[in-house]
Amino acid sequence: MYDFETAPYLRYNVLKEGSTLMNVSYEVRDHIAVITINRPEALNALNLDVLKELAQTVDKVEADDSVYVLVVTGAGKAFVAGADIAQMKDMSAAEAKAFGDFGNSVFFKIESISKPVIAAVNGYALGGGCELCMACDIRIAGTKAKFGQPETGLGITPGFGGTQRLPRIVGASKAKELILTAETISADEAHRIGLVSKVVPDEELMAVALDMANKIAKNAQIAVRQSKDAINRGMQCDILTGVSYEAQAFAVCFATEDQKDAMTAFVNKSKLTQFKNK
Ligand code: COA
Repeated sequence: MYDFETAPYLRYNVLKEGSTLMNVSYEVRDHIAVITINRPEALNALNLDVLKELAQTVDKVEADDSVYVLVVTGAGKAFVAGADIAQMKDMSAAEAKAFGDFGNSVFFKIESISKPVIAAVNGYALGGGCELCMACDIRIAGTKAKFGQPETGLGITPGFGGTQRLPRIVGASKAKELILTAETISADEAHRIGLVSKVVPDEELMAVALDMANKIAKNAQIAVRQSKDAINRGMQCDILTGVSYEAQAFAVCFATEDQKDAMTAFVNKSKLTQFKNK
């Protein structure tokens, strides 16, 4: 797990609570939070300010008990067209290292918050944009979405986790093909290789993402969060260690009212309409 206490990104002094969001919009309704990366004039490219605001907003999501699920999307024709090339152009190696550490820390934050995160990929998801959606738990794409890691064509490697998450999602051969050729792929191809779980018409993308978020929000949140955590931990270790995490998660659920209520309702041939999330 990333050590947030000593992470170098702290040097960047993440925005304080209450500061104005300029590049990210944030909305919460019916237990679902939506973060929209909102810098359409630069196709939502991730500069330092966007990353800081994203980190601050994700902290807000985690701290707000009324939020059960987060949806991340982009304003305009891009999800995110990458890290900001204009900002990176003159970076020294040391600055690039700090920028990469910072981006990675933000994406680890997204990956490791207790609540599920759905990426609604509405357009270009290139470089840091592809890496951002890979840090989310579930990816849904609109038909116009495009995916790729173009970094080797810019003289760099992926820097926000692409070399690590892409092979874990699509396998090493396909990940190497995409990263080494720097080619962009369509939403359908991303679906075929397992990078996204579904492709839907662009105009239905948010409705489908919110519908999925609602389905998750209706389930027992302790079980949902324990499941996310067990899957995440299991992806980083051997299967015996992984199933021991699962056994712990399973046990945690048996100490909840939700488990007792739902199973009692089932054996009584009725259905629980709402979980207490206790
Ligand atoms: N960083 C900084 N600015 C970016 C950007 C990025 N990653 N991606 C797009 N922009 C900016 C462009 O510079 C342009 O700004 P301008 O209007 O001030 O000139 C604006 O966003 C619109 O982009 P544009 O290239 O004109 O749009 P397009 O529809 O012709 O092309 C892309 C779209 C996504 C194919 C093209 O913008 C692109 O290749 N972007 C870079 C993708 C990339 O390599 N990402 C990985 C970075 S490591």
